Amino acid sequence: MYQVLIAIHVLSVLIWIGGVAFVTMIVFPMIMRMENSLEKVLFFQGIEHRFAKIAKLCVVIAGLTGFGLLHLTGETSLLLTWKGVGPTLMLFVWVFYVLVLLFEGKLFKVIFKGEAQQDTSKIFFRLTVFHWVVLGLSLLAVVVGVWAGHGGLS
Ligand code: HEM
Repeated sequence: MYQVLIAIHVLSVLIWIGGVAFVTMIVFPMIMRMENSLEKVLFFQGIEHRFAKIAKLCVVIAGLTGFGLLHLTGETSLLLTWKGVGPTLMLFVWVFYVLVLLFEGKLFKVIFKGEAQQDTSKIFFRLTVFHWVVLGLSLLAVVVGVWAGHGGLS
């Protein structure tokens, strides 16, 4: 059971964080090079809208399998301790994504309101920085999770 759960867990994380990396490293630089503001916003919203569905599914699967793994390994009691640094960081990143995905509609409204129509370059620069921070945190969770799960703490 553990092996099945961890395989599904890692696959969902792979598709989800891989998508975040693609958007951050490929899509944003493309948008930054576009001239037309409306074109930028439509291109971005088209991609984020499609990716959000895949990301939501992956977040649900990663969460379910993650909690299942916590239960199976008995690591729940290690959360918020140094020994449980891997799952603790994963949980933190996961909760952050859940909040962003839940309030995505509201966030977009706030981000693209007013100022965006005047200065899309500024908005997309901020979005790029935000995506790099989120991607960095996610990759850190992967590195720490693999490191801690393979004898890094012993
Ligand atoms: C509800 C959220 C999550 C929970 C409760 C959770 C929990 C766990 C647990 C208990 C394991 C088994 C490893 C061990 O025994 O220490 C695991 C493995 C793993 N998780 Fe998560 N996880 C969650 C979300 C995430 C996220 C968001 C990421 C990546 C950003 C991630 C990446 C990984 C990776 C790469 C492994 C494999 C580690 C290895 O090589 O053994 N997980 N997770």
